[in-house]
Amino acid sequence: MPYQFASRTAGLRSSAIRDLLKVTEMPDMLSLAGGLPTPDSFPLPDLRREADRLLGEYGPRVVQYSATDGVIELREWIAATYAPTFGRAIPVEGQIVVTHGSQQALDLLAKVLIDPGDVVVSESPAYLGAVQSLELFQPRFEVIPGDQHGLQVEVLAVRLAAGLRPKLIYVVPNFHNPSGATMSLERRHHLAALADQYELLIVEDDPYGAIRFAGDPLPPVASFSERVVHLSTFSKIVAPGFRVGWMIGPPEVMGWVTRAKQAADLHTSTFAQILLANVLGVPGWLDEQKARIVPMYRERCVALADALDDRLGDRIRFHRPDGGMFLWSEFPGVADTNALLRRAVEEGVAFVPGSAFTIDQQPDSKARFSYSTLAPAQLGVAVDRLTRALDSL
Ligand SMILES: Cc1ncc(COP(=O)(O)O)c(C=O)c1O
Repeated sequence: MPYQFASRTAGLRSSAIRDLLKVTEMPDMLSLAGGLPTPDSFPLPDLRREADRLLGEYGPRVVQYSATDGVIELREWIAATYAPTFGRAIPVEGQIVVTHGSQQALDLLAKVLIDPGDVVVSESPAYLGAVQSLELFQPRFEVIPGDQHGLQVEVLAVRLAAGLRPKLIYVVPNFHNPSGATMSLERRHHLAALADQYELLIVEDDPYGAIRFAGDPLPPVASFSERVVHLSTFSKIVAPGFRVGWMIGPPEVMGWVTRAKQAADLHTSTFAQILLANVLGVPGWLDEQKARIVPMYRERCVALADALDDRLGDRIRFHRPDGGMFLWSEFPGVADTNALLRRAVEEGVAFVPGSAFTIDQQPDSKARFSYSTLAPAQLGVAVDRLTRALDSL
């Protein structure tokens, strides 16, 4: 007899990117496909020193069970770090939950908020991992287009005025994955005002905000409204393998999220949390870490963008991102970038076609290039290969 699965699995897609990573493991493949942080950014000596100290001095507490919403040292660091940016005090109890990466935050929010058929507003293109998390709870996606200044909040305002009432609105305001876009200050204000006016909940996912290499930082949407759950993570600024992220949000929402997390995994790794809290607790540590890693991403982004401009000219269109890891592009002469990808893989370079980031997965002329893991010289070679693929199409 065949196995019987829950109906919610019906729409569950496998990540096109994860499937692609198999291709990128082929020898000599240059991958612009993954979104991994560069391994050079991991602060291994500091982590090693702190791990030794914790296992020696701290004793058993670092490997004991701990609170579902996170170890107190880390919640204190989060509260102190965000109070100035949010422009208000953040209590360490009740409004912060440490999660297993921000991916778990998305899953827990979906679990406690979404019933089948509920409306979820998502940008297009969208972060695939969020779509996967939300999809399991069978929402109806209301797609709002994004542009180089982020989600088109004006379009959302029109739909809200016409009666749309989403359960949640998902946005990635800084250096969006995949679009690289940064939401303008005006749109952040507008979005927060809409949340207050219509009593909505915004999920502001900000894994990349610390990797800004151009322009001035903008205040988070959460600084303009309390109807926001703000997510972030150590994945891009320290290392993703710890799987430590966090969410800050309204007490009612965080209460339900904490119960759901208890059911899911009791708590995030005690050891990883205390280790990170101690590394981050060294005065000036994070500023030094950012000063070390942000130039790596800047240099790579410039190398990729310059090479694309130089080799492809008007055969490609893109905006240079102000930070993060992704350059989003359009090939005006290519109807389906999946076909370009097949040629590109033959030439020894991989990227992710735009259709992977849409809800309906229709072929399009877009592509996401990640510049995070290749050195500048390799990025040039990758673009040479891409150019050959395009020529042969
Ligand atoms: C927009 C976005 N949100 C969330 C995540 C998940 O990050 P984490 O490693 O914290 O789970 C990613 C990872 O790439 C991302 O790009």
